[in-house]
Amino acid sequence: MGGKIFLTRTLHDFALKELRKKYQIEIHSGKIPIPKTKLRSKIKDVDGLICFPYDNIDEELIKEGKNLRVISTYSVGFDHIDTEFAKKKKIRVGYTPEVLTDATADMALALLLDISRRMTEGDRVIRNGKWKEVYGAFDYVGADLQGKTIGILGLGRIGSTFAKRAKALEMKILYHSRKPVSKSKEKTLNAKYVSFEKLITQSDFVSIHVPHTKETDRLFGMDVFRKMKKSAFLINTSRGKVIDERDLAKALKKKVIAGAGLDVFEKEPIDENHPFVKLQNIVLAPHIGSSTKETRMKMAEITVKNLNLGINGKRPIYSVGY
Ligand code: DGY
Repeated sequence: MGGKIFLTRTLHDFALKELRKKYQIEIHSGKIPIPKTKLRSKIKDVDGLICFPYDNIDEELIKEGKNLRVISTYSVGFDHIDTEFAKKKKIRVGYTPEVLTDATADMALALLLDISRRMTEGDRVIRNGKWKEVYGAFDYVGADLQGKTIGILGLGRIGSTFAKRAKALEMKILYHSRKPVSKSKEKTLNAKYVSFEKLITQSDFVSIHVPHTKETDRLFGMDVFRKMKKSAFLINTSRGKVIDERDLAKALKKKVIAGAGLDVFEKEPIDENHPFVKLQNIVLAPHIGSSTKETRMKMAEITVKNLNLGINGKRPIYSVGY
């Protein structure tokens, strides 16, 4: 079955070639995210939509898609899509888990190493010509990881893979999730289940691996930061809305916690006036958790497969709910 497809961003050539064989396609190439008015006008007559995490595919927008049969997101997260409403309208929603697990766990590790060893900060020192002034016993002093406690919130695919990395670094692993994982998995990962309270109070590093839901919305606010160790670092590669960004900026400025490494933000892209941008004790990445050549190609492949299945009324390989 043919039809019209709209992509809010381009994909790899092989994926576009595959799509062009079957559909009439149109791609947004301007600013990110595509302005809502433009997306609203585009969705009106398409059969399939390929979107990204920064696109807000809400009820109002989905209603405009009179012919829409499938929304295929190029991401594991789907909190940017009103999946309940899509289901009501019998619109399939596909997403891309599994293939990006390693890359995203690696990104959490990269942020952990970067913020604990002040690498990006050091890079700024060199580029700003300050190395000659700042180089003594107490400069660029970071934190050891070996023997320190890492608190992992959410021990799903990415959280567990990150735990494997933390184990290799000889860190003590605490975790909290809706329910404990099996004893054998705990043993393999050398991870101990604790309450959320214990996780935040006892950890030297906290890494967030939960989706954004009503329960996790702004879970990390000033009340949590005050309970964390002053020397603690917060890592987030899941979703920005799990953190209250204003509170985090205040907590970092006042040294309530020591630092943070973030790959995700409440509203992406963040602009240059965001309070985080002025802070030294934070590493910022532009939502690139899944961004390796290999992973991004696999994601493109699944995104297209999900779209093909959904447009034909079939369940995508990775399908949300319906
Ligand atoms: C996703 O795909 O949802 C992740 O945020 C990857 O970084």
